[in-house]
Amino acid sequence: MEAAYDVDEIRRDFPILSTKVNGKPLVYLDSAATSQKPIQVIDAISNYYRTYNSNIHRGMYDISIKATEEYERSKELAAKFLNAGSYRSIVYTKNVTDSINLVALSWGEANIKEGDTILVTAMEHHSNIVPWQLLAKRKKARLEYVGLKDGMFVDMEDLKEKLGRGPKLFAFTHVSNVLGTINPAKEMTEMAHKAGATVLVDGAQAAPHMKVDVRDIGCEFYGLSSHKMLGPAGIGVLYGKEELLEAMEPVTGGGDMIRSVSFDESTWNELPWKFEAGTPNVEGGIGFGAAIEYLNRVGMSRITENDLRLIKYALKRLGEDSSIQVYGPGLEHADRKIGAIPFNINHVHPHDVATIFNSEGVAIRAGHHCAMPLVTKLIGEPAVSRMSFYLYNKEEEVDRAVDAIEKVKKVLRVMSQ
Ligand SMILES: Cc1ncc(COP(=O)(O)O)c(C=O)c1O
Repeated sequence: MEAAYDVDEIRRDFPILSTKVNGKPLVYLDSAATSQKPIQVIDAISNYYRTYNSNIHRGMYDISIKATEEYERSKELAAKFLNAGSYRSIVYTKNVTDSINLVALSWGEANIKEGDTILVTAMEHHSNIVPWQLLAKRKKARLEYVGLKDGMFVDMEDLKEKLGRGPKLFAFTHVSNVLGTINPAKEMTEMAHKAGATVLVDGAQAAPHMKVDVRDIGCEFYGLSSHKMLGPAGIGVLYGKEELLEAMEPVTGGGDMIRSVSFDESTWNELPWKFEAGTPNVEGGIGFGAAIEYLNRVGMSRITENDLRLIKYALKRLGEDSSIQVYGPGLEHADRKIGAIPFNINHVHPHDVATIFNSEGVAIRAGHHCAMPLVTKLIGEPAVSRMSFYLYNKEEEVDRAVDAIEKVKKVLRVMSQ
């Protein structure tokens, strides 16, 4: 039988969780921005620097061979984690932003023509809007947005209609970083394919919280960032179907991405190195590998369960106070939500909320969450508070956040309605 989920045992692996902020134990509720790191990841990076720091792919000596093996092993782990089929489909980038830009600059340059349409949803992070705006401008193409239903779900009727107009690309987020909404990625991909569109899925908020199977989803591209899933910053993944990656041109040139170079021309390396010019983020890859091993050990389904339990508990606690406005799927749709809860306290600016939370040792995010179009439309101004959860959070921390809300109301004299 599987051991019970022991959040206290997990917490012991995260040194930062025993620190204090303003004299109070840190409550970290901003994992959607970046996750904390377990000692296993910290040690993997430290061990690399201490015992086998070297450049990879070229060294003929032991420590370089080991560094190459560990770095490349992490790609095998990432491929398995996403059920990608092969490490050849796993391109290492800086982060999901970089992954999306790579697709826009390579696949987009070759395939988007004047008058074409690129379709995204109204719940995208700026990372999945701006690269397409830039591409559309370069190509004289159009960028269209699928609307939302009830301010929280992708409007499937609108999606059907806009796919019917034949967009070349449909790019959407698997999980919204603001609303926490889980989008039905497989269904949306199938609909897009029927309409002849290529599909890119932004997995920044999904990959940390749930089992992702890119081949089951069927999308052409899937991106994620290591730093949101226990790994170091500066490394991310672009999964791409092999035949598409094979056909795509590299966007950065230099060492490592070539097979041969003459004064006149060059030929490209095999996948995935064709897209990885220059010395890569070796310690990042090694740390990311340790993060995936950690997630695998805990088990993605158990992480999903824990995160969902916390979401439900927090929604229930926040629902007890009529001066709090919660956005996105509520308790009745909790099974379509993961990771994040956006909320506002009536008549209080989110920056004041986050500042008073901080005085209580509770770290939350306030602002537009890099989703200005969504937040502005939803709330009427580009700011909302957000608490977000991960595998190391527990109910007592939600209670500390609710206590912090009481403090906000007391300090700013907000009455419950
Ligand atoms: C849904 C989503 N997409 C993209 C990003 C961008 O991630 P990064 O800054 O790691 O590239 C984020 C970050 O919050 C996100 O939540």
